[in-house]
Amino acid sequence: MARCFVTRSIPGPALERLAAEHEVDVWPGRLMPKRSQLLARAAEADGLLSMLTDRIDRDLIEACPRLVAISNYAVGWDNVDIAAASARGIPVGHTPDVLTETTADFAFALMLAAARRVVEADAHVRRGAWMTWEPGLLLGHDVHGATLGIVGMGRIGSAVARRAEGFGMKVIHTGREGGVPLAELCGRSDFVSLHVPLTPETRGLIGEAELRAMRPTAILVNTARGPVVDPAALGRALRGGWIAGAALDVTDPEPLPASHPLLEAPGLVVAPHVASASHGARAAMAERAVDNLLSGLRGDPMPHCVNPKAHGQARDEG
Ligand code: GLV
Ligand code: GLV
Repeated sequence: MARCFVTRSIPGPALERLAAEHEVDVWPGRLMPKRSQLLARAAEADGLLSMLTDRIDRDLIEACPRLVAISNYAVGWDNVDIAAASARGIPVGHTPDVLTETTADFAFALMLAAARRVVEADAHVRRGAWMTWEPGLLLGHDVHGATLGIVGMGRIGSAVARRAEGFGMKVIHTGREGGVPLAELCGRSDFVSLHVPLTPETRGLIGEAELRAMRPTAILVNTARGPVVDPAALGRALRGGWIAGAALDVTDPEPLPASHPLLEAPGLVVAPHVASASHGARAAMAERAVDNLLSGLRGDPMPHCVNPKAHGQARDEG
C-alpha cells in the first residue's frame, strides 16, 4: 500500500478506486494548498495527484524522496517540471482526450459570446436598460461564414475546426500539414482561437506584432494557457481598437484579480479557467488521473504519460 496526496477533492467516484488500494490524503479545502502545505504533504507521498494550480517544480520533486508517480489532473502539464521528474525516473500522467470535445464546446461558447455580445446583452436587461426593440442595439459580428484561424491544430484545435464546419466557417490553421504562418493567419482571420500547450516556445506567442496583424473586427479566443498571450499587449489592442474583442478562459495571472486593468478594456469576455468544467469531462478526467496514478505506483506504464521514457530510464540506470 502506497501513500498518495491528492491536492484537491475531484468530481466523481474515481478517488474511491484509489482509496481501495492505497492510503489517500485529500487536501480538504476548496482553495489550493499553500506552497509550504504542498511541500509538507507531498514529502510524505509515494504518489501525487496534482492540479494545474500546483507548481510541481524541481525543488518540490527533490524534496519528495518517496515520490514514484505524478498524475496531473489536466491535459496541460506546464505546471510540472518534466525534466526534473524524468531525471528521477518519475512518470508524469495527464488527462487528454476526455476533455477535448468539452473544451472545444467552450471555445465556441466564448467565440459566440464575444461576437454576439451575450454578456453585455444579459447585463443590459438586468440593469433595466431594455426600453424598446432597437434596430441598432448591441450589434455584433457574424460567426457563420467567417474565417476561423486555429493556432495549434491538435486534439482540441481539430475539435473546434469540426464545429466550425457546421457554422459554414472557413478554417485556416498553423502547423506542419497544410498550415499557414502565424502572421498570415492573424491577418486573414475573423476569429483567432488558441490551442497550443504552454511551452518556452509558445509563451508570449500572441504579442504586440500578432495583435497588430489582426483585423480591427477580429476576436481573439484563448482556452489554452494565459501566458500564451502577452496581457499588456492585449490590453493595448483592445483599448486601441486593433482588434474588436477577446474571450479568455485563461489569463496571466490566474486568478485575474477583480481590480486588474485588463478587466476595464472594451470587448473583453472572461471566464475563470472552466473550459473543461462539465460534469462528464471532470469525472472522466478523474478516472484517467486515477488510472495513471495506479499504474505509476505499480511500476507499470501509465496509460497517458507525458514522459513515457522516464520509467524505462530509471529502470535501465537502476
Ligand atoms: C485545463 O486547462 C487542462 O489542461 O486540463
Ligand atoms: C426579430 O426578432 C425579427 O423578427 O426580425
